[in-house]
Amino acid sequence: KFEELAQTPPMGWNSWNKFGCNVSEKLICEMADAMVNNGMLEAGYNYLVIDDCWQVRRDSVGNIVVDPERFPNGMKTVVDYVHKKGLKFGIYSCAGSATCQGRPGSRGYQFQDARTYAKWGVDYLKYDWCNEEGQNAKAAYKTMSDALKECGRPIVFSICEWGDSKPWEWGKGIGHLWRTTADIRDCYQCTFDWGGLGVLDIIDKQAALQQYAGPGHWNDPDMLEVGNGGMTYDEYKTHFTMWAMLAAPLMAGNDLRNMDAQTKEILTNADVIAVNQDKLGQQATKFMDMGEYEIWAKPLSNGEVAVCFMNRTNQIWKLDYDWKKQTMYFATEVSVHKKVYNVFDLWEHKNIGKTSERLVKEIPAHGVLVIRLSVVK
Ligand code: DGJ
Repeated sequence: KFEELAQTPPMGWNSWNKFGCNVSEKLICEMADAMVNNGMLEAGYNYLVIDDCWQVRRDSVGNIVVDPERFPNGMKTVVDYVHKKGLKFGIYSCAGSATCQGRPGSRGYQFQDARTYAKWGVDYLKYDWCNEEGQNAKAAYKTMSDALKECGRPIVFSICEWGDSKPWEWGKGIGHLWRTTADIRDCYQCTFDWGGLGVLDIIDKQAALQQYAGPGHWNDPDMLEVGNGGMTYDEYKTHFTMWAMLAAPLMAGNDLRNMDAQTKEILTNADVIAVNQDKLGQQATKFMDMGEYEIWAKPLSNGEVAVCFMNRTNQIWKLDYDWKKQTMYFATEVSVHKKVYNVFDLWEHKNIGKTSERLVKEIPAHGVLVIRLSVVK
């Protein structure tokens, strides 16, 4: 059922960040193979989502037509292949008359398109917001949501409006996730005249949205750039860690057919993914902001908490943290004043101390230290 989907943030892969319009049957099938063979599926990435540019026109009765050159066997064949691999299949359309790349959008065809997706076996729809022609965003997304609810197949609905109409205020019940910003760019801190945000700017915008996230309804700070080459190892770890802390959907956006060891280490870090997928479904709160140093806390379902120390500076942060002075109680129920916790480092995968001791650690430039405070048994 629609209401029971996405109880934890969706995980998967999407074609856009790396391949743009260069999508095809070959690409999607190779990516499906890769996800099974390289541990991505096992790590939890189970949605394979094809973004813009698979569609070319509508036929005489309004059915959407798949690009016959790039998808010579039609979309159903691709979906079947993906399903046979144990993955779920996601597709893309747009609430406007045309997509952002000028392909036919779903305006006026919402119910017809939803039935087509159900017929193909689609499990996820990302629904964009270009050429929207002055429509009311909530109404436009509700129309497609109603169409999906009636199409006879459970389909996760990803609202890709970029935050202008505050989708966090109306998206719950209409979709399972909603974008909160303009598109991500493959950089830690950058600005482009033509739009798009680096990782730090995106993180800054999430702090105020914590209350809107929960099981079945997530803030979506956009897809991952890990492995696309624009950031350092530490910056990609920060990107991935913070998306996990923010209970964000984890949609990889790199070429999974040839990942280097560091990219794979980051994307398949089970300890960080467990924080993201925690069933309590709470987004982290920034409980301390010291300008260039920040501390975030994400309460977890078993009375534990994940804490992330984020170093925005270009120098090492020589952290010397006294748990006795902590102010985390603004963000979580966990009190290190009442109990002693183990301090488990989610990148080193080991205990590095207890909350009865000071936490002394060097955090690299643009890096993070992320730990899980676990109850000592
Ligand atoms: C804008 C979205 O924000 C992107 O993620 C991508 O889907 C493009 N449109 C595709 O045209």
